[in-house]
Amino acid sequence: MKLNIAVLPGDGIGPEVTAQAVKVLKAVAMEFDHLFTFQYGLIGASAIEKHNTPLPEETLSICKNADAILFGAIGTTAYDIDPNAKMRPEQGLLQLRKALDLYANIRPVVAYEELLNKSSLKKNKVKDTNLIIYRELTGGIYFGEKKLSEDGNEASDSCTYTRKEIERITHPAFKAAQARSKKVTLVDKANVLESSRLWRRVVQEIAPQYPDVTLNYMFIDNAANELIINPKQFDVILTENMFGDILSEEAGVIVGSIGLLASASLGDKHAMFEPVHGSYSPATNKGIANPIASILSAAMMLDHLGLDEEATRVRDGVGKSLKLHITTPDLNTKYDNISTTKVGDFIEDFINNPDETNLNFTNIHLGQSTII
Ligand code: IPM
Ligand code: MG
Repeated sequence: MKLNIAVLPGDGIGPEVTAQAVKVLKAVAMEFDHLFTFQYGLIGASAIEKHNTPLPEETLSICKNADAILFGAIGTTAYDIDPNAKMRPEQGLLQLRKALDLYANIRPVVAYEELLNKSSLKKNKVKDTNLIIYRELTGGIYFGEKKLSEDGNEASDSCTYTRKEIERITHPAFKAAQARSKKVTLVDKANVLESSRLWRRVVQEIAPQYPDVTLNYMFIDNAANELIINPKQFDVILTENMFGDILSEEAGVIVGSIGLLASASLGDKHAMFEPVHGSYSPATNKGIANPIASILSAAMMLDHLGLDEEATRVRDGVGKSLKLHITTPDLNTKYDNISTTKVGDFIEDFINNPDETNLNFTNIHLGQSTII
């Protein structure tokens, strides 16, 4: 298969984790006889620096012409602490999501058996967690009208949703539930917000089209609590843009590290794959950023393109790296010298030699003769 992949490394740890995912995709292409070409584009702070805009035309056009987009992360500490910045790196990502109409952000949260003791939560609470968040990505408070009064003393962001925006994310969420445990939890704040009441109305109208799926409801404050107390109760969480942002980051606690969570942002014409974590600027170029979220985002890309065997190989490589403790320090208590690149090397190696990897890797990278 010939594929043209746009790569937007972005800011902070984005470039280093994305480089590992690209390495893995190249190994997949070699092993399974595909031709993947990669076109790089600037976005975020690095784009502002060079082109004075967070989303240059050239980047948008690379993305529009690609079969899929791999995105890294966006934002820097300098912008984070400056509320007066006229331009913000994050605008690049938001404009891109909007321009490509990537309305469905899909964020799976699966607890790895090997990492149960890495979670801040009790093992028995975390074990067998397998949920997926369907986050609406191009509407709500992120994209509503923003106002700042002239004297700078009053500001507002409005949260608007249309029936159509709710409908088009609700259908894929229910379809996903049909293929899973057949349960959708709509998370909103319908006791307070008019926009949430519209969500309830529209979702209630659509639900009967999926009679095998059970629909239940949770207010966001309660959901934030339940996600930690009993994550196993969830199958598909359907929610609006900002609630989905917050809940998906919270879910990092369940699996042991936010550095494991991948996502797909899908529209009708375009598809982008991005880690749930952000740019985490303080860790830039220290070799400690976990590349697994980016690598698993690449696996979601392969799924999306119908390359199932390839996606499985990547996931098996990730599974093996976790099992053998070939992980960055956020997860590792066994070895202290495993860098972002080494994790990428291991998974790359696994893709080309799924049966021989352990020993090779052990000898070459850890300087030990056996592992486990
Ligand atoms: C995410 C990120 C983005 C968001 C930021 C970087 C704009 O937090 O993808 O979760 O809020 O959507
Ligand atoms: Mg976020």
